[in-house]
Amino acid sequence: MDFSEKDSVDAVLASFADTPDPRLHEIVDGLVRHLHGFLREVRPSIAEWEQGIEFLTAIGQKCDEHRQEFILFSDVMGASMLVETMEAERQAGGASGATGERADATASTVLGPFHVVASPERALGDTIDSLGTGEPCLIEGSVTAPDGTRIPGARIDVWQADEQGSYDVESGGRQPLGNGRGLFTADDEGRFWFSSIVPAHYPIPTDGPVGALLRATKRHPYRPAHVHFIVEAPGYVPVTTHVFVEGSEYLDSDAVFAVKQSLVRDFATVDDAEAAARHGLPNPFRRARFDVVLQPAAA
Ligand SMILES: [Fe+2]
Repeated sequence: MDFSEKDSVDAVLASFADTPDPRLHEIVDGLVRHLHGFLREVRPSIAEWEQGIEFLTAIGQKCDEHRQEFILFSDVMGASMLVETMEAERQAGGASGATGERADATASTVLGPFHVVASPERALGDTIDSLGTGEPCLIEGSVTAPDGTRIPGARIDVWQADEQGSYDVESGGRQPLGNGRGLFTADDEGRFWFSSIVPAHYPIPTDGPVGALLRATKRHPYRPAHVHFIVEAPGYVPVTTHVFVEGSEYLDSDAVFAVKQSLVRDFATVDDAEAAARHGLPNPFRRARFDVVLQPAAA
């Protein structure tokens, strides 16, 4: 039978019919049906198909050990947040509300493309900023279960941009690798604290094909100021999330759709000479509190 627009999906699905892994079978079938549906809807010319191939090729070619253009593409298309949201729903056993939030646990959000350098292990109270050019801040919190049980020894991996909105890996050597990053272990009462600088809002990288897409579609590339967190502990569902800086620009138009109101925190100015001295900070300083609640893993 000749290949035809009407029968294209059936022909390709048949070619995958013997896929042994049922999940892989489901995924390739869905991909074929939606890809063909997309092509029948937009009816690309050969020249446009070539442009599409060149775009995806450029995304791959832009990737290296410090640059993840495919995650960036997923992020600006809202795909990362959709997967993240569905994952949270799955982890909650489908028992959560329409928002996909785990009812009791800290909301998750995108990993983003900058978790590409292992965070240096640091002691509680250390600073993650070695340059001292930004506004000093203290970030503190606790890690607990939904019933308030404290989780000693929880691991808290943090990374953030500096006051100019750059991560270490994209600063062109201005920041040493590992700056703005830290891996902390909560104390016996599940508490953590470290100092840093208040991060700035920033544009996602625009020097690649994703930037070209944003320009062609008149979208801005900015993300509101935030600190990334991954918090994990044995027996609990890990959470990948951010703390957003209250009052930051772009909280209502994040280029990657990652803002959740429950993750916005006041980075308040504190005038407390004793606390400043205790934490090795100048007075006054900024302080934010982020208490993390982890869902117990299914038995
Ligand atoms: Fe970020």
